[in-house]
Amino acid sequence: MAENLIIEGISKEEKYQTLLPQTHALIKGETDLIAALANLASALNMTFNSLWTGFYLVKGEQLVLGPFQGPIACTRIPYGRGVCGTAWQQNQTLVVEDVDAFPGHIACSSSARSEIVVPIRDTAGKVAAVLDIDSDELGSFDQIDAAYLERIVAPLSPLLSA
Ligand code: SME
Repeated sequence: MAENLIIEGISKEEKYQTLLPQTHALIKGETDLIAALANLASALNMTFNSLWTGFYLVKGEQLVLGPFQGPIACTRIPYGRGVCGTAWQQNQTLVVEDVDAFPGHIACSSSARSEIVVPIRDTAGKVAAVLDIDSDELGSFDQIDAAYLERIVAPLSPLLSA
């Protein structure tokens, strides 16, 4: 299974096209949220090999670190803080081309240069988690990433609504 997720020499869009059904199958086959998020973090990391790929879960007024791949990260992010907390507050995907130009960016790693954060909603439409992907290059993410990542996380909603 893992070998199939390493896809070289094709466009980003083609990688997402291949990844999308695989991630949906991973989610469909699991009722435990943490297990599903852990495999999703792995699948995204195996495909894109980003600096950091992972999830934060809404717990009260904070985002708390969930399954991830990459270096040690901050464990708690307050509502409205950093890119993750802002995506939660604004209830929308944020594409940040240069993290140094984002007011209040939380630098968990000094190598981070660009970032995308995708809110994940429960079945009531409330943000219950975010997907955060960090890159060590400027401008790594665009609306193609936003559109596909939103589709990748959409089936998680029932698992976030327990
Ligand atoms: N960069 C994020 C913090 C989380 S880590 O980078 C893993 C932010 O500003 O929300």
